[in-house]
Amino acid sequence: MTDLADALAARLDQRQARVVVMGQGHVGLPVAMRSSAVGFAVVGFDTDAERVAALRAGTSYITDVVDDELAGALEQGYWPTNDPADLEAFDVAVITVPTPLREGMPDLSHVEQAAGLVADVLRPGALVVLESTTYPGTTNELVRPVLERTGLLVGRDFFLGYSPERIDPGNPSWGLVNTPKVVSGVDEPSLRCVEVFYGALVDKVVPVGTPAEAELVKLLENTFRHVNIALVNELAMYASELGIDIWSAIDAASTKPFGYLRFTPGPGVGGHCLPIDPSFLSWRVKRSLGRTFRFVELANDVNEHMPDYVVTRIMTMLNGDGLAARNSRILVLGLSYKAGTSDWRESPSLAVVERLIALGANVRAWEPHLPPVGLPQLPVPVVPCTVDEIAAADLVVVLVEHPELPLDDIAEHARLVLDTRGCLRDRAFRGGLL
Ligand SMILES: NC(=O)c1ccc[n+]([C@@H]2O[C@H](COP(=O)([O-])OP(=O)(O)OC[C@H]3O[C@@H](n4cnc5c(N)ncnc54)[C@H](O)[C@@H]3O)[C@@H](O)[C@H]2O)c1
Repeated sequence: MTDLADALAARLDQRQARVVVMGQGHVGLPVAMRSSAVGFAVVGFDTDAERVAALRAGTSYITDVVDDELAGALEQGYWPTNDPADLEAFDVAVITVPTPLREGMPDLSHVEQAAGLVADVLRPGALVVLESTTYPGTTNELVRPVLERTGLLVGRDFFLGYSPERIDPGNPSWGLVNTPKVVSGVDEPSLRCVEVFYGALVDKVVPVGTPAEAELVKLLENTFRHVNIALVNELAMYASELGIDIWSAIDAASTKPFGYLRFTPGPGVGGHCLPIDPSFLSWRVKRSLGRTFRFVELANDVNEHMPDYVVTRIMTMLNGDGLAARNSRILVLGLSYKAGTSDWRESPSLAVVERLIALGANVRAWEPHLPPVGLPQLPVPVVPCTVDEIAAADLVVVLVEHPELPLDDIAEHARLVLDTRGCLRDRAFRGGLL
């Protein structure tokens, strides 16, 4: 086994390795781009033919991967594909496929399917790494048996590990390369191979003892954020009723140089991580220990309630102007789940829009980050955020603090504003903050 590990480490060091990345989404495409940039031969496998066609045509659908980077990778030989035959003869397979929740239960069918395709072409001396977010135990209990069905054994024939992805879509400071990467292996040789592979991609790797620890790291990080966002969201609702400016209080608390981390309120949580990952942990605790992870349940409860709270605030503000939500013209600013991204998954903005439509409001929306591929069906017209649109609305609600927001125009021309992100705090405007 040491010989096989030495041989793989040498191929990785010399960039002689063939890397396949299963899933070319928000996580997989950046991994594929980076693997290509450092000199590996890269196959980007995805079951979605539309995505594969877009990539082959040089069109990226991921905010953090620009078309120039994709063009450079294609020139280096990066090969997007949905043909399993292209997976043959891989040295490293990285699995970055979705792990959704279905009725509160983790759905690992994509991971199982991707691991099955990898198993079909698994060779002695190869490395498989799972990056999808999942409950602790998945790498050993689910991926390993699928790979060992081939007759090859981990620890004897091939290497296996887990490394959580930490990307923060749209973050201009911290990306795949400069964010330390937690890595793990099911045994010592596996850990060594995982370290050498990611050592080629990122500035710093952080090894941990077991894949279960590495799986827990990701869930701990996201549960920490989920719980703290819920804390400020709940405080924001009470502070508003008490007539206290929560935003000023958060600013002041953030001056404490130790023991405090800044989180701000908003209309709820979205994306593929925060609304989902903590539930993996509570599911695992419930299934294995029979207990309830109360922090997660409470945070879910608070954060899931935020779109309702936003709509209640809108109705109250309209009422103050003698208007009902029904037939009021409402301009919604921002539909994606966070600033600067075209990722719409689980976006709380969509929940707010649905509730306003159900109340009979005339809703129009502005969103500067429309995804080029897979645009969701929208129940409202998407309009530019012009002075005319702003002035024609009975109420403007800021749901996402996109950098393109015309804040001066909103402050000057909107009849009434609900700012759920605190973007207008430095300006005089008619309306209120969350
Ligand atoms: N988006 C994030 O910010 C983020 C951050 C950290 C971790 N993660 C985790 O990474 C994983 C992937 O998330 P994502 O955001 O990249 O998802 P995504 O939906 O953007 O991309 C997943 C891709 O996998 C493809 N796919 C589905 N089944 C497949 C299969 N069997 N074989 C090959 N491809 C398949 C899909 O077509 C899609 O293109 C999830 O577990 C997620 O929780 C996401």
